[in-house]
Amino acid sequence: MDSKVFVLCFCAVFVAAEAIEMNLTNEWKQDIGWEIYCSWRIPNGDSLQSVRLHQNNQQFLIFRPETDGDSRVLVTRRLTDVLTTNCALSKEDRQMGTCVLTFELYQPQKQGFMITCEVSGERPYFRMENKTIYVDKYVPSTDAALRVVSQNKDTGRVTLNCTSSGVPGPNLTWTILGQQKIPHDFTGVSWNATSKLWDAWSVLTYTSNADTTAVCTPEVSTAGRLVKGKSAEYNSAECSRGLVALIVSAALYLVLVR
Ligand SMILES: *[C@@H]1O[C@H](CO)[C@@H](O)[C@H](O)[C@H]1NC(C)=O
Ligand SMILES: *[C@@H]1O[C@H](CO)[C@@H](O)[C@H](O)[C@H]1NC(C)=O
Ligand SMILES: *[C@@H]1O[C@H](CO)[C@@H](O)[C@H](O)[C@H]1NC(C)=O
Ligand SMILES: *[C@@H]1O[C@H](CO)[C@@H](O)[C@H](O)[C@H]1NC(C)=O
Ligand SMILES: *[C@@H]1O[C@H](CO)[C@@H](O)[C@H](O)[C@H]1NC(C)=O
Repeated sequence: MDSKVFVLCFCAVFVAAEAIEMNLTNEWKQDIGWEIYCSWRIPNGDSLQSVRLHQNNQQFLIFRPETDGDSRVLVTRRLTDVLTTNCALSKEDRQMGTCVLTFELYQPQKQGFMITCEVSGERPYFRMENKTIYVDKYVPSTDAALRVVSQNKDTGRVTLNCTSSGVPGPNLTWTILGQQKIPHDFTGVSWNATSKLWDAWSVLTYTSNADTTAVCTPEVSTAGRLVKGKSAEYNSAECSRGLVALIVSAALYLVLVR
């Protein structure tokens, strides 16, 4: 009785320690879209029987080294994207390998999606492991950038254009440092087919003086949270100070050259 329990426990521990190890990760690739990696390592004495890939619970690829050889590439052209899947063994003993899924976006991503990777070993163990990843419709906003569109030295009126990109296109909010939020004058957002991101911009005209700093912050609400990107600031005094520094260094340069 005791020895039976011992054997059972031993087996359970043995099997748990000798499971298929796999990783499923995703990454945003600038100017392409999403890249998803499924990699596996099968315990010694076993080898890969198959890898099945599913999108939103629908199988779209099966990689079977016995019939496919060391690798399999599948290109699926769809209305919104081109999906290239490249599965390959990285070792001859069929124990390690990776499938790389590249989603090249041709239209803005409409919704998140789910990818499942299922890795199976050979008989007699019939090991099986699967993982699912949810790829959200979200790419963090780029740092805000400010451009002075126009400036009136006499009145202090300045027009700024703030830009930031992401998925979805961020809301750009304006504050005069230490004061309340102020509304923008014009704003726009458009999908950039090169970067695959939404480019957002916002224009503000206000009366600036040495004491006012205008701050533009990209904001996105995602999964019930408000995520703020890196702000950009404008202060007319800094510009004048920058100008003074430039003049001083130019004068210094002239003195030194002479
Ligand atoms: C899975 O990820 C971990 C941590 O990055 C790494 O140490 C391990 O080698 C990976 N395993 C496979 C099968 O890729
Ligand atoms: C994935 O693995 C879980 C256990 O981790 C199992 O319950 C589930 O049935 C598996 N799904 C598929 C599609 O094999
Ligand atoms: C602000 O900048 C964006 C991006 O460069 C541009 O598309 C937009 O027309 C600009 N808006 C104004 C009012 O200058
Ligand atoms: C689109 O994004 C690229 C960067 O990937 C940038 O160089 C280009 O100016 C953007 N296009 C427009 C119309 O803003
Ligand atoms: C921008 O703000 C509006 C109004 O508050 C909100 O409905 C929208 O979801 C926001 N956009 C993003 C990308 O968070």
